[in-house]
Amino acid sequence: MSEYRVAIVGATGLVGQEFINVLEQRDFPMLSVKLLASDRSAGRKLFVRHQEIEVEETVPESFEGIDIALFSAGGDTSRHFAPIAAKAGAVVIDNSSAWRMEKAVPLVVPEINPEDCKWHKGIIANPNCSTIQMVVALYPLHKVNPIKRIIVDTYQSVSGVGGAAALEELTTQARQVLGGEPTVPHVFPHQIAFNVLPEIDVFLDNDYTKEEWKMLEETRKIMHADTIAVSATCVRVPVFIGHSEAVHVEFSHPMTPDEARQILARAPGVKVLDDNSVSLYPTAWQSARTDDVFVGRIRQDASHANGLAMWVVADNLRKGAALNAVQIAEEVIKQGCLSSGG
Ligand code: A2P
Repeated sequence: MSEYRVAIVGATGLVGQEFINVLEQRDFPMLSVKLLASDRSAGRKLFVRHQEIEVEETVPESFEGIDIALFSAGGDTSRHFAPIAAKAGAVVIDNSSAWRMEKAVPLVVPEINPEDCKWHKGIIANPNCSTIQMVVALYPLHKVNPIKRIIVDTYQSVSGVGGAAALEELTTQARQVLGGEPTVPHVFPHQIAFNVLPEIDVFLDNDYTKEEWKMLEETRKIMHADTIAVSATCVRVPVFIGHSEAVHVEFSHPMTPDEARQILARAPGVKVLDDNSVSLYPTAWQSARTDDVFVGRIRQDASHANGLAMWVVADNLRKGAALNAVQIAEEVIKQGCLSSGG
């Protein structure tokens, strides 16, 4: 079996560390791994497969001889370095939103549209975390009974933005509130401890946030379903890891909850946890550090004859980011489309 030279851009970040964990746990065929970050982290050492590896500053020359470059270092870094890496011959799998809606860039969830890897020109985009878990749960149903409309409200953990600083802000503020001290927000627009904030990413002219609009645009692109209507409200909640979503779906025809449970029980990457009699449903805490997209609370939508409601939970750092990216890399290898168009 061939082995590949891998680079991780943003290796010192939360998703970067998860890239390392996932590559190790899946025994990814790595000949070598290069850890890249900003100049602030150059010289820091991290462990990969029990070996200490020094972090290097990301510079244009970093990508010489690299086969696969996993990026999670923010949009600006991706916009600048992804084309350089692709030109050097690497396939870039980018976790930022910089390239997702570019026509020439595939946006891939391996359980749904693996065939889109084939036409990459050096960059493949990893979708937004909230979108990934929603489409993994909905696509198997959509194949049987085309979806017309999705209403989704998210409950997103702090690790989805701001890295370690966001985790720190929640911890510090929780202590301050319990100690009767005032809090000062830095990462989030308001106090996040013991609070719920309906603002993720910037506001757009249409009064949705960019995160909410990503859920519409990315869902259509991944599922090749340009007419699906999506309305999202994205909400930050004081949870460390794990995004939860209340999803209301309108199908073309009626679908019973049992039918949906049976389809989802066979769906790749999905685990159904749904038994009201024993309060069995997925929670963010239980989803953290796991790979599946969990679905529960499946029920008839009382407001629409063709509707189902459900509760969808996943680890935003794993299936929502690092795991999905590594699965894309595995697809690229499997499909033999490693060499880029440069
Ligand atoms: P660094 O640790 O050197 O700042 P998170 O979102 O968890 O905070 O992680 C962001 C990641 O992106 C970190 O690894 C960070 O490195 C990296 N990063 C930020 N800015 C740059 C940059 N200009 N070039 C390369 N990596 C960057």
